[in-house]
Amino acid sequence: MIEPRASEGIAVVTGASSGIGEAAALQLSAAGFHLVLIARRRDRLEKLQSKLRKSGGPADIICSDLSQEESFSAIADKVKNIGSPIEVLLNNAGFGWYGFGDEMPWSVAKDMLAVNVQAVTSLTLQFLPEMKRNNRGHIINVGSIVASIPSQGVALYGATKAFLDGFTTSLYRELVSTGVNVSVVRTGAVRTLFFNKVALQPESGVIPLQGLAVRPETVARRILELLKKPRRAIYVPRLLWVVPWIEMYFGWLIDRLGPRMLRSSRF
Ligand SMILES: NC(=O)c1ccc[n+]([C@@H]2O[C@H](COP(=O)([O-])OP(=O)(O)OC[C@H]3O[C@@H](n4cnc5c(N)ncnc54)[C@H](OP(=O)(O)O)[C@@H]3O)[C@@H](O)[C@H]2O)c1
Repeated sequence: MIEPRASEGIAVVTGASSGIGEAAALQLSAAGFHLVLIARRRDRLEKLQSKLRKSGGPADIICSDLSQEESFSAIADKVKNIGSPIEVLLNNAGFGWYGFGDEMPWSVAKDMLAVNVQAVTSLTLQFLPEMKRNNRGHIINVGSIVASIPSQGVALYGATKAFLDGFTTSLYRELVSTGVNVSVVRTGAVRTLFFNKVALQPESGVIPLQGLAVRPETVARRILELLKKPRRAIYVPRLLWVVPWIEMYFGWLIDRLGPRMLRSSRF
C-alpha cells in the first residue's frame, strides 16, 4: 500500500490536462502526493497546477509531446531533478481512432504507437529501477476493455491497449513479493474529451457503448483504491469482468456481427 511520505512522494501523471488524468491528479494531490503533470496543452496544465497549489499540494508541470521520442528521457531527467522519490507513475496519456483499420493514416498510427505504447514503455523503464531500489512504488497503466475483446473499428488502438495488458502482467509477476506494484486499469467508456477527438477522425460515427460512459472521477477513485489495495488488473465499471468471458464464448458471433456494426455506425 502506497501512502505518500508527507508531500515527498512524487506522482507522475501523463495526460493530466483533461479527463481521467486530470481527475486522478486532483485525487492524488488530495491524498498528499507531489504531482508532476504532463501533457501538451500548457494552459490547461497551468490552470490545474494553480488549483492544486491553492489547496496546498505541490505540483510541477512538464509540457511535452509524447509522440516525440526525445520527450521521454527529458521527462525522466526533469522528474529526477525534483529530488524526491517517485512513488506513482500513472501512464494515462493516450488517444484512439475509429474506423476500418486499413483506412488509418500512417501518421496517426505512428503517433498512436508512440503515445500509447512507446511512452509507457520508456517511462516505465526509466522509473522502475528507482522504485525497485527503494522497494516502493506503483506503476498504473490506463488500458481499455477493448484489449479484452478485440473490436472492429479500433484495430490498432485495441492492440496498443492489449500491449499494456501483457506488459503489466509480466512486470507484475516479476515484482510479486517486492514493495513495487504494476497494475492495469481496464476501463469501458468514460465521459471525457476522448470521444470528441475520436469523432473528429474522418468518416467516424457513433461509437458503440458511448452512451454507457462513466465519469472520469469514478475511474480516478478506483485508481486511488488501487494504491491502497494493489491488484494486477481492475475493471471500471466492475461488471466489465465478464467481457473476457464474452470474447471466449461468443467471439465467433462477434466475428460475424462486427463488420456490420462498424458499417452501420458510420455517418
Ligand atoms: N474515454 C474513454 O472512453 C476511454 C476508455 C478506455 C480507455 N481510455 C484511456 O484513458 C486514457 C485517458 O483518456 P481520456 O478518456 O481521459 O481522454 P482525454 O480527455 O482526451 O485525455 C487524454 C490525455 O492524453 C494526453 N495526450 C494525448 N496525446 C498526447 C501527446 N501526444 N503528448 C502528450 N499527451 C498527450 C492529452 O493531453 P494533451 O492533448 O494536452 O496533450 C490528455 O491529457 C487514454 O489512455 C485512453 O486510451 C479512455
